[in-house]
Amino acid sequence: MAAGVVLLAIVGIAEGIIMLMIRPIIDRVLNPTAPDSDVLLFTLPKGGPSVYLNHFFPHTIHNVWTVVSISLLVVFLVKSLAEFAGNALVQWCGHRAITDLRNAVYKKIIRQPIAFFQHQPTGRIMSAVINDVERARPAVSEYLADIFRQSFTFVALIAVLLNIDWKLTLACGVFLQMILWPVGKLGRRIRRSVESSQSKLGELNQILQETVTGNRVVKAFGMEDSETRKFGAAARRLLRETMRWVRAQVVTSPLMDLLQPIVIALLLLYARDKIVHHEMTIPLFITFIGALFKAYEPVKRMGSVYQQFAQAEGATTQVFAYLDLKEEKRDAPGAQELPAFSQEIQFDRVSFCYDETPVLRDVSFAARKGEIVAFVGSSGAGKTTLVNLIPRFYEVTSGAIRVDRRDIREVTIRSLRSQIAVVTQETILFHDTVRNNIGYGQADVSGERVIEAAKAALAHDFIMELPKGYDTLIGERGTRLSGGQRQRIAIARAILKNSPILILDEATSELDSESEQYVQRALSNLMVGRTAFVIAHRLGTIRKADKILVLEDGLIRESGTHAELLATGGTYARLHDLQFADEDLLAPADAPNPNAARTGDHE
Ligand SMILES: Nc1ncnc2c1ncn2[C@@H]1O[C@H](COP(=O)(O)OP(=O)(O)OP(=O)(O)O)[C@@H](O)[C@H]1O
Ligand SMILES: [Mg+2]
Repeated sequence: MAAGVVLLAIVGIAEGIIMLMIRPIIDRVLNPTAPDSDVLLFTLPKGGPSVYLNHFFPHTIHNVWTVVSISLLVVFLVKSLAEFAGNALVQWCGHRAITDLRNAVYKKIIRQPIAFFQHQPTGRIMSAVINDVERARPAVSEYLADIFRQSFTFVALIAVLLNIDWKLTLACGVFLQMILWPVGKLGRRIRRSVESSQSKLGELNQILQETVTGNRVVKAFGMEDSETRKFGAAARRLLRETMRWVRAQVVTSPLMDLLQPIVIALLLLYARDKIVHHEMTIPLFITFIGALFKAYEPVKRMGSVYQQFAQAEGATTQVFAYLDLKEEKRDAPGAQELPAFSQEIQFDRVSFCYDETPVLRDVSFAARKGEIVAFVGSSGAGKTTLVNLIPRFYEVTSGAIRVDRRDIREVTIRSLRSQIAVVTQETILFHDTVRNNIGYGQADVSGERVIEAAKAALAHDFIMELPKGYDTLIGERGTRLSGGQRQRIAIARAILKNSPILILDEATSELDSESEQYVQRALSNLMVGRTAFVIAHRLGTIRKADKILVLEDGLIRESGTHAELLATGGTYARLHDLQFADEDLLAPADAPNPNAARTGDHE
C-alpha cells in the first residue's frame, strides 16, 4: 500500500514537472533567437535557488531541444511506469479489502442463530454478500488509486500555480468553495438512494431465487405470467430508485463545469492588465491557465470519486449491519466440554416460545441412555420444536435440559452437537456428490464406511444405479433424487456420524411401507445402545419405543409405553384407532394386511 502511494505521488510530481516545461518550450525551444545557455525550470520563492533543467545533464549536451526532449521522454517514462505500478498496487489492496470484507460477512452470517435465517429472506442475504459488496469494490480499488493519484497531482499543480502567481491562485481557490457545497449535498442524496436501490436489488434477487428453486410449484399452478409481472414490477422499482442516484451523479460534472467560464473571464481580465504592465508574460500566463485547468481536473475527478464513496457507503450499509450482528450464542463463560454421554437426558419444566405465544409449556421427562423416546401429536403440537432444543438450535425460555445432570447451556455447543445426529423433517442435501453428502461434517472418512452406512440405510442399491454411483452429483438440495432416496441419504449421514444421541424427525415419512420396514430395522440396529428421540406420525413405527409422549398444544398429555397408552384409552388410543381403521379401509382385500397383528394389540 505504502509503495503504491509513493508511486502515485511520483505520478503527481511528474505531472507538475510536465506543466513547468511548457515555459522553456515556448521561451527557448520555439524561440531560435534565445541564448543557448541555461534552461530555467522554476525558481523557489523568497529568493531561493533556481532549478535549471540542463544541470541534470552532462556538459556535453547543451542543445536546448535535446535537453527538453530527453527530459520529456524521461519524465513521461517515469510517470507511466509509476502510474502502472502504483495503480496495480493500490488496486490490489482494494480488491484484497473487498475479499476480506466478503469473507468476514460470510463468516458472520453462517454463524447466525437459526432464527436469523427464518427472518431474513435468503435472496436478500445473497444479494448483500455478492451485489452490495461488489458495489463497494470500485470505490476501494480504482477510485482509491484515483484519490491518491489525483490528490498528488493536485498538490503538485497547486505548487506550480503558487509559484507563478500566488494571489491569483488563492483567488481561484475561493471559487472552488462554491462548487464543493452542492457536491457534498448530492453525495448524501446518492448514499441514501443507493442504499434503497440495493435493497430493491435484493428484492429482485429474492423473487428470482424463490421462483427458480420453487419452479415446480410455479409451473404446477401456472404462475409463470404472474411471477413475471411480479419480477417486472420489482425491476421497475429498482429502475426508479437507480435513476434517482444516477441523476444526482450526472448533474455533478456539468454543475462543476459551470465554474470554468466565470473563472476564465475573470482571469483574462486580470491577466490582460498585468501583461500590459509587464508584470506577467504570455507564456507564463499560458502555463498558469494550463496548470489551472489541469488542477481543476483532479478536483472534478474527486467530485465523482466522492460520489463513488457515497455509493459504496450506501451499498454496504446492510453489509455492515450484518457485521454488527451478534453471533450465535457463544458458549457461556467457563463452558466445559461435555463428556461422552453416559446416563440420562432430562427435560426439567422446559418452556419455550418463538416470540410471544408459548409453544412448549412445562415439559418434563427423562430419557435414559439406550432408551427410545417417541413423540406423538397433531401437526403443530410442538414436536419439532422440542427436539430442536436438544442440540440448542434454540435456547429454552425457562426450565432446563440436562445431559448427565449438566445443563446444556453450561457446555460448549461444539461438544454437545458432536454427540447428536439429526435427521431433520425436511431433508437437507447439498449440491455435491452422494459420497460427500453422506460424509458431510466428517473430514477424511473412508469410502468403506460411507458404503457401510449407505447399506444400513438401504441406500446402497439405488446409489449404485446412479450414473456415477457414489460420485454422482445430486443436484441442488438433492433435486435429482426422489423424496425417499433423499431421506435415506440423510439417514445414512446420521448413521455414519455414529453419535450416542439420535434425533429422527419424521425420518421415514417419505418411504413406502416396505422400505420403511427395512429402514426401520436398520434404524433399530442403529439405536441399540443409543438414545433416540423419534417423531413419527405413523404410529406403527414407534410401537417399540420405551416411552411414548403425547404432545398437545405444547403440553405433555400422556406418557407411557404403547400398551399402557392403549390401555388408558386416551388420545393415543384414539389416534391409533383412527390410523389403523383408515389403513384397513385403504388396504386392498387380497393383500396381506401388515396391521393385522397390531390391531390385535389393543383388545
Ligand atoms: N420459527 C418459528 N417461529 C415462530 N413460530 C414457529 C416457528 N416454528 C414453528 N412455529 C410454531 O410452533 C408451533 C409448533 O411447531 P412445530 O414445528 O414444533 O410442530 P410439530 O409438532 O413438529 O408439527 P408437525 O407434525 O407438523 O411437524 C406451531 O404452531 C408453529 O406455528
Ligand atoms: Mg415437525
